[in-house]
Amino acid sequence: MAEALAVDIQNLCKEFPTPMRTRKLQAVKNVSLQIKQGEVYGLIGPNGSGKSTTMKALLGLVEPTSGTCSIFGKNSRKTDSRNDVGFLPENPYFYKHLSGAETIRFYGKLCGMRGKSLEDKVNELLDLVGLTSAKDRRLGGYSKGMLQRIGLAQAIVQDPKLIILDEPTAGVDPIGSREIRDLVFKLREQGKTVFLCSHLLEQVQEVCDHVGIIFEGQLVKEGRLEDLIAVEDQTEFILEGASEELLAQMEQLIASHSSAKLLRKGNPRTTLESLFLKETIKQTASNKEGETSA
Ligand SMILES: Nc1ncnc2c1ncn2[C@@H]1O[C@H](COP(=O)(O)OP(=O)(O)OP(=O)(O)O)[C@@H](O)[C@H]1O
Ligand SMILES: [Mg+2]
Repeated sequence: MAEALAVDIQNLCKEFPTPMRTRKLQAVKNVSLQIKQGEVYGLIGPNGSGKSTTMKALLGLVEPTSGTCSIFGKNSRKTDSRNDVGFLPENPYFYKHLSGAETIRFYGKLCGMRGKSLEDKVNELLDLVGLTSAKDRRLGGYSKGMLQRIGLAQAIVQDPKLIILDEPTAGVDPIGSREIRDLVFKLREQGKTVFLCSHLLEQVQEVCDHVGIIFEGQLVKEGRLEDLIAVEDQTEFILEGASEELLAQMEQLIASHSSAKLLRKGNPRTTLESLFLKETIKQTASNKEGETSA
């Protein structure tokens, strides 16, 4: 028997009533989207395009106007469809008086975890999201990025097979974003399915193998990332240590072919993110050195 799809959304439509208006707001218009087990799928789109609504309908948190959603073959209207799902909402709400460790423990207990295995999990997740040193501080004093990390930890506390992340890097600094990206890589290695949406397109490009673009409630483009972004009639070489002579020979060779044209040459640019990380890591290392020699 074929493996059930992790996510199967068929012709999803969601309308919201609008106050004082007779016309309803069509937040999601006939969206169909499938995610196979083990895939990392990124949904991208402008503000208000229907990303969160699609995710909420999949999770059974909003009732579809029409269409169906299912998770591992189970209809999202049924509670047991959520047994194997972890979710990080867009604006997670936490009990501010609980500490980081207590929060993860609380969510673990909600998922039926107890005893030593729960305690081990709490410590493992605090370490994974980089909050071990803040584990006894109350969430009321956590920064936005720290809250986001706690949100991520609670989403994976019961080791779900499908993880749905609504803007996991919102409010997180570039180093934290990179750690979250690495965490998604780790989840993928473990064979988990990840369905995320984000405005950080560069990161979506790095972690996702499938991408969907949603615009005004409609899925306007969808497919394997590699296929979507390949510029089919162009070829890229990135050389290291190439001499001027070799480059001149290559250019001559290309010029001798009438069908090919050299469009651009030069040094590849780094990204602002890589530059930021390089400089902050350098700074952290030199600060540490200063501390030890003092
Ligand atoms: N509960 C609701 N009641 C009324 N309208 C809603 C509700 N939830 C969402 N909407 C509307 O549906 C549309 C899609 O919203 P949604 O939150 O899904 O967008 P989004 O793509 O997640 O945007 P963002 O990138 O800003 O998070 C928006 O116009 C929004 O105002
Ligand atoms: Mg949203």
